[in-house]
Amino acid sequence: MKRVAILISGSGSNMVSLAQSMTGDHPARPVLVLSNVPEAGGLARAQALGIDTTVVDHRPYKGDRAAFEAALIQRLDAAQPDILCLAGFMRILTPGFINHYAGRMLNIHPSLLPKYKGLDTHARALAAGDGEAGCSVHEVTAELDGGPILGQARVPALPDDTAETLAARVLPFEHRLYPAVLDRFARGDRTPVTLP
Ligand code: GAR
Repeated sequence: MKRVAILISGSGSNMVSLAQSMTGDHPARPVLVLSNVPEAGGLARAQALGIDTTVVDHRPYKGDRAAFEAALIQRLDAAQPDILCLAGFMRILTPGFINHYAGRMLNIHPSLLPKYKGLDTHARALAAGDGEAGCSVHEVTAELDGGPILGQARVPALPDDTAETLAARVLPFEHRLYPAVLDRFARGDRTPVTLP
């Protein structure tokens, strides 16, 4: 069994979909949910699923990323993860952290990468007049939102969409895409998943 740690900052809906997928003959199990936000709604959802949770609040580190990441690594490595899934984890990670987990870390990003790395992805897609939007799961490398793409889901962007309505159309596809990629990745299969 592969051991999976999931990193969150918010409501954790992707974390829930990942955790709920890891049952039966799935090759992995969730062993830890870590949040950098003590108030993150996903913490209670993880606890309700019987998953260990831990918090490393970034604020006391006052911008000392090396010290923050050392604390992250200490908590994560105590759980001996084989795979790390970033699921709405909203801190930029340095190469030192990323290299520590090289080849073991995935992220979900709400755009059709390589378009719209960073924040405000849906608003930027609409501002550009794109006729489609979506989400991507990629391996995390030192380049922000730039690692190899392991899966994508496309949805239409409609003329009267707002960032909110588009996000609401994309999110259910995130919840299908990320578990599908994790299942393959945990079996050593990096063939990209395409949805729908
Ligand atoms: C998701 O839409 C995810 O794609 C996005 O944050 C949301 C988290 O929702 N991630 C990023 O923007 C990463 N830069 P969730 O907490 O309900 O899973």
